[in-house]
Amino acid sequence: MKKRVLTGIKPTGYAHLGNYFGAIKPAIELSHNEDYDCYYFIADYHALTTLENKEEMQEYFYNIACTWLACGLDPAKVVFYRQSDIKEDFELNWILANVTPKGLMNRAHAYKAMVEKNENEGIDRDDGVNMGLYNYPILMAADILLFDTDLVPVGLDQKQHIEIARDIAHNFNVKYGKSLKGPKEYIDEDNKTLVGLDGRKMSKSYNNTIRLFTDEKTLKKSIMKIVTDSRLPGEPKDKDCTVNKLFKLFAEKEEAEKFENDLLNGLGWGDAKNRLFEVANKFIAPMREKFDYYMANKDEVDEILKEGALKAEKVAREVLSRVRQAIGTDR
Ligand code: ADP
Ligand code: TRP
Repeated sequence: MKKRVLTGIKPTGYAHLGNYFGAIKPAIELSHNEDYDCYYFIADYHALTTLENKEEMQEYFYNIACTWLACGLDPAKVVFYRQSDIKEDFELNWILANVTPKGLMNRAHAYKAMVEKNENEGIDRDDGVNMGLYNYPILMAADILLFDTDLVPVGLDQKQHIEIARDIAHNFNVKYGKSLKGPKEYIDEDNKTLVGLDGRKMSKSYNNTIRLFTDEKTLKKSIMKIVTDSRLPGEPKDKDCTVNKLFKLFAEKEEAEKFENDLLNGLGWGDAKNRLFEVANKFIAPMREKFDYYMANKDEVDEILKEGALKAEKVAREVLSRVRQAIGTDR
């Protein structure tokens, strides 16, 4: 039996290098392996927790959809769909809410971080927290459990969510008999947390990202913004610096070794960033071409996602029907 792989990205901003190396690239690699059966989607209803309006939704939705396709997702091999097209997901979400202890949600990172921030600012602990954010991990568990998922390729920040999905499946199985499969996270150890411009985790929420698909000029401008120390040309640089970490992602081994050596031998930051731009741009350019193609042909993207949704729905119906039988709401 093939192992099922599933992952989603929420369209809350433009895809960045952290998304690519942490989640998209490992997911695409798995999809080239015949032992895996892959389901990748755009988590548009998860994005509702932060988006301001429909223009943002549409802008980011197509950015993420075209990103997947540009990065090599083959719709003939991968079931590629939009979360909101799978109505079964939202039914399972409700069912699962009833086997999810509230305390488990209180401990979820995104909610906890928000509460801590509010407490530090001396305002109501739940200020700005909507129920979409609070219930976020339950919908994510539904996304995953609805497809009998074995593996979920994600960056390290999502690990807790997969553990929660596993706990929820366990709770359901204890109450109703074994019906749901417990998933495992699949984390690429080398790229589990990519650093951003300021050296913290690269994230849309920190405003420190390098966008994957922009024109060359903007890519170069972002790279020039990487924060460095004040060591002058001629002074040896730290090999753990952000510029070197990013360079390694794009370069072949030999080229990366040479770059690191040059840094240790005093390569100036300006030259180092120029070289990082060259290697990054060379890596991204062929994918950018495909990205631009899909952005100019959104009808084609819609069609791919529609076909994907039909395939996904078939599996979703089977699993949901099993769940309904277990809880006694089948006919
Ligand atoms: P963001 O933190 O920018 O909002 P998302 O939460 O949309 O990113 O992440 C989408 C996917 O990309 C997830 O699997 C997440 O773990 C992965 N990811 C995001 N940022 C990074 C990063 N800096 N390093 C590795 N993986 C990341
Ligand atoms: N929470 C994930 C993120 O922020 C997105 C997501 C939604 C997801 N549902 C999922 C990831 C199911 C993996 C599996 O990036």
